[in-house]
Amino acid sequence: MKTVDGRLYVVSGASRCGKSTQVARMTKNSRRAVAWDPEAQWCELPGWRKVTTRKELLAAIQTPGHMRVAYVAGGDLKEEFDFCCGCVWYAARHVAPLDYVAEELADVSTPSKAPGNWGILVRRGLKRGINIYAISQRWSEADKTAMGNASYYIVFTTRPKDIKYVANSTGLDIEELKTLAPFQFFMVDPVTHEITKKKLTFSR
Ligand SMILES: Nc1ncnc2c1ncn2[C@@H]1O[C@H](COP(=O)(O)OP(=O)(O)O)[C@@H](O)[C@H]1O
Ligand SMILES: [Mg+2]
Repeated sequence: MKTVDGRLYVVSGASRCGKSTQVARMTKNSRRAVAWDPEAQWCELPGWRKVTTRKELLAAIQTPGHMRVAYVAGGDLKEEFDFCCGCVWYAARHVAPLDYVAEELADVSTPSKAPGNWGILVRRGLKRGINIYAISQRWSEADKTAMGNASYYIVFTTRPKDIKYVANSTGLDIEELKTLAPFQFFMVDPVTHEITKKKLTFSR
């Protein structure tokens, strides 16, 4: 069966180092995207529509064409995240492929196996053509499944207490990691071991 595989980008780095900005740039031209948006940031970006209820999210993901929604959920965040992941899985299987941005995973997963529908997405979503952007500042507290299935790691400045974990998981050298300046990051391909250093720049 011929499929266009998606990619799983695991994005790490301390707070305000540029994770969301980088992912926003990478998804800028996406016609179909869902963002799990607990901090209500994505819904403020141009081209994104805010949805706050399950009903609105369900209606949005059934749209076959252009659709960019940021789900700002209330209530139990873990349950809502599971629901959001279920919607993305449904959309990819029954409507059309899409991009999925999942912010601050340490709050909704655990260091063990990825839970529920998030687990399904990171294990089987790529085969369905879903591009997943998995973001956390503390990967030692987020799930191993996403970490272990990454197509690419995007690694920004890391705090000392997380540096060993990030180095071990990505194959980067601790000393190499310490050379990162603000807004610099490594892009790591875990299969070819290719490492490129890049920098986020802002035009004013
Ligand atoms: N247009 C801009 N010019 C300069 N700095 C910016 C601009 N946009 C964002 N930033 C910087 O990026 C930082 C936040 O980046 P963000 O992507 O939200 O980080 P993270 O997601 O890692 O917490 C802000 O603290 C700000 O300093
Ligand atoms: Mg962010």
